[in-house]
Amino acid sequence: MTTRDSRPLPIVVVGHVDHGKSTLVGRLLHDTGSLPEGKVEEVRASCERRGMPFEWAFVLDALQAERDQGITIDTTQIRFRSAKRPYVIIDAPGHKEFLKNMVTGAARAEAAVLVVDAEEGVREQSRRHGYLLRLLGIPQIAVVVNKMDLVGWSAERFGEVAEELRAYLEGLGVEPAAFVPVSAREGDNLVRHSPRMAWYQGPTVLGVLDSFEPLPRPVDRPLRMPVQDVYKFDRRRIIAGRIESGRLKVGDEIVFSPSNKTARVKSIEAWNVPERPEEAVAGESIGITLDEQIFVERGEIVSHVENAPMETTVFRGRLFWLGQKPLEVGGTYTLRLGTAEARVRVEKIERVIDTTDLSGRPAERIERFGAGEVILRADRMLALDPFESNPVTGRFVLVEDYVPVGGGIVSMEGYPDQRHLFQRRATNIHAVGHAVSREARAARNGHRGGVLWFTGLSGAGKSTLALALEKELFRKGYQVYVLDGDNIRSGLNADLGFAPEDRAENIRRVGEVAALFADAGMIAISAFISPYRADRERARRAAPEGAFHEIYVSAPLEVCEQRDPKGLYRKARAGEIPEFTGVSSPYEPPENPELVVPTHELSFEECLQLLVDYVERNFRLD
Ligand code: ADX
Repeated sequence: MTTRDSRPLPIVVVGHVDHGKSTLVGRLLHDTGSLPEGKVEEVRASCERRGMPFEWAFVLDALQAERDQGITIDTTQIRFRSAKRPYVIIDAPGHKEFLKNMVTGAARAEAAVLVVDAEEGVREQSRRHGYLLRLLGIPQIAVVVNKMDLVGWSAERFGEVAEELRAYLEGLGVEPAAFVPVSAREGDNLVRHSPRMAWYQGPTVLGVLDSFEPLPRPVDRPLRMPVQDVYKFDRRRIIAGRIESGRLKVGDEIVFSPSNKTARVKSIEAWNVPERPEEAVAGESIGITLDEQIFVERGEIVSHVENAPMETTVFRGRLFWLGQKPLEVGGTYTLRLGTAEARVRVEKIERVIDTTDLSGRPAERIERFGAGEVILRADRMLALDPFESNPVTGRFVLVEDYVPVGGGIVSMEGYPDQRHLFQRRATNIHAVGHAVSREARAARNGHRGGVLWFTGLSGAGKSTLALALEKELFRKGYQVYVLDGDNIRSGLNADLGFAPEDRAENIRRVGEVAALFADAGMIAISAFISPYRADRERARRAAPEGAFHEIYVSAPLEVCEQRDPKGLYRKARAGEIPEFTGVSSPYEPPENPELVVPTHELSFEECLQLLVDYVERNFRLD
């Protein structure tokens, strides 16, 4: 299609320093006739005057210098064209902002050329850049094995280097479209096939580039429009943003996340068009008006009601770190995601990735230019997508003191979508007040009602202690009842499994039930792993004010695993139980529990006594 091919294909050129990126670009510009008239002669003459050998990289430097003097505003983009289409090289090689632009998404490449020196072979940066391409999801890659003139045009040497890189990229799940042996300086195999490497039958560099496809605009993905701004015109409010994916029509029912407000699209306002459009699609910047006035802000994501983004306060980030100071557990940063900003805290570094061999190990910090997997917790609800389902709303940048210090992609592996947990479907609901007061119930029972929320790993001792405590409190005259995971899961929650969303719903229901028990004047002891902090906080909010007591029944994973009362850890390790807490699914320990019961340090009787004393102190009416 002609329209498609008139848009320049944005590419990046990456690779180890001195492996010949600038030479490649300079020569490519020359061989495609994309340099200004006389430019090469000018540079040659200047080299001669200074007694320096001519380098293609100087041509690039000269162009760059002109741009820097303000001849064009754009200092980073270099254009050339083949017979087939135009290209734009975003971020000239060696540009100091290159990594930052890649990571922050300022530079959006659709294809990449990875340059490796035939003599030196694969170096650390070659690997790191390969990793970055993978992390940022750049799908089309050409590998150029450069400086073939220095290895005597050797097919064998080419094979070695190509093989080493191929193996590495394969480990990342990246399959380059081609490996091209070239001499950028001499122009071999850039635009024309080289007679000096007749053994090479594959495409030239330009041939590979021409075989790449522009990425389709993500019109068929679910609608995502991050809100950029809300303008007030007379009585109308116009919500402005860029549609990053999907399509939007007048009359569509949309939801704003994370505020979860819904409305219908009344009109689409576009700029520079004669008539108001009925529909807008990915790639367009528009404004919309709604059928009712609702308060929404910059940072929210517009989607359709069905197929909305996920909502969460915690996610897993695969990131690349650029900060001068290392990223550390406990560090806080500003998160930018779409147009939203939030404060996030690094809760955990799950592993740092050694980009040379892709091995991962646990760590306390990620150094500059390092990569790793971290758990980030925000101080408020975020709307986002896992990167695989939506690259734009699945990418984030971390900022410290206004400087981007890292960026990466979102994974929600092991974490639930929290959206449905606070959505209310029913309307026309009117709460009624009880004629029996909480005080009256407490007075009759001789104790307050409340929730003793046990949380901890499987095998930590929750159920055993809960049942013993129930018996002891009953003996002492308390109205008490245990809600236990395994029991509730065979009744009320028989429809739920152990996927993150199911666990969250499990805890939501139990939290509500426990709250009812507490309201009824009883002591509910709940014994559930309840691995997610956000779920436990919700359970706390469901309970009457001050009636919720979080009790951390704690024992290290190794101890629980050794006890293995139900033989489940053994099965989980053997891969027979997927998503087993502590093994293949996360557990988030409480930060400020009302009570900690360390079952690996105290005897069973001591644990029980600790609990009984706690209840006597906090629940008994004086
Ligand atoms: S929770 O995570 O949703 O809070 P819950 O406490 O209800 O879990 O259930 C945990 C119990 O279910 C465990 O004690 C164990 O007996 C059993 N179980 C079965 N599969 C799993 C699993 N994948 N992860 C954890 N517990 C599991």
